[in-house]
Amino acid sequence: MPPEASETVISVRDVHKSYGKGQATTAVLRGVSLEIKQGEIVALIGQSGSGKSTLLNIIGSLDTWDKGSVEVMGIDFSKARESELAAMRNEKVGFVFQSFNLLEHLTCIENVILPASFTSIKENDAREQGMEALRRVGLGELAHRPPGELSGGQKQRVAIARALYNKPQLLLCDEPTGNLDSETGENVIEFFGELNREDGVTLLIVTHEERLSKFAQRVVHIRDGIIQSDETGVSGESKTNSDSVGEEKVS
Ligand SMILES: Nc1ncnc2c1ncn2[C@@H]1O[C@H](COP(=O)(O)OP(=O)(O)OP(=O)(O)O)[C@@H](O)[C@H]1O
Ligand SMILES: [Mg+2]
Repeated sequence: MPPEASETVISVRDVHKSYGKGQATTAVLRGVSLEIKQGEIVALIGQSGSGKSTLLNIIGSLDTWDKGSVEVMGIDFSKARESELAAMRNEKVGFVFQSFNLLEHLTCIENVILPASFTSIKENDAREQGMEALRRVGLGELAHRPPGELSGGQKQRVAIARALYNKPQLLLCDEPTGNLDSETGENVIEFFGELNREDGVTLLIVTHEERLSKFAQRVVHIRDGIIQSDETGVSGESKTNSDSVGEEKVS
């Protein structure tokens, strides 16, 4: 059952993360707080290296952090067992990674349904759902080819099909339209909109693209590991809800 509307899906509080040790330490996230409710579409925007993928990976329980709290769909990551986090990733969250993360020795359909092998879903059912997801992104015909024979945009669509095949409640997307031509990009955005309207799917999308940030109901800007602004727009108007630091704008 989808969570109740207005229920908090993502709650990140004062999260810090650094890489390296001693003098070589680089602070990547410097006290990030973000709350996202069920059914929201949020675009995460910021320059290269600002910490977007790092934050997305932490929210997806794919990376660790140093300080602060992370709670996703009622699961407090600092208290959860790994098995609980794995179940959340497999059953409730869809990921579209910046680098696709497709396995070359498998076919497209096998890549799409790979997460099902960690659940109790029967292989035939998984294949059927996987084919449906591939058809939705226009790749039904290429289902049995390995990703190595596909273009960048086609690989990206396989990655999207894989994220969607298990009907997740939360979609975490890292540049999901970065390699798509404008028509395919539009189709993907339309598809995201449908998932949001019909199934109440919550979307957090890292993007450099204006059409995607326009599609989002809310745009969060991150700069040097700090949330600079957080704007909820309603048909052109925008309400700023900012803990902005300094006056600089993020391009
Ligand atoms: N494993 C790692 N070890 C050391 N530094 C890292 C590591 N992963 C990321 N970083 C650094 O953390 C910072 C943030 O990286 P991140 O991937 O989150 O940026 P981003 O906002 O997603 O950038 P882009 O738009 O280029 O994808 C960068 O300066 C990067 O060099
Ligand atoms: Mg990134």
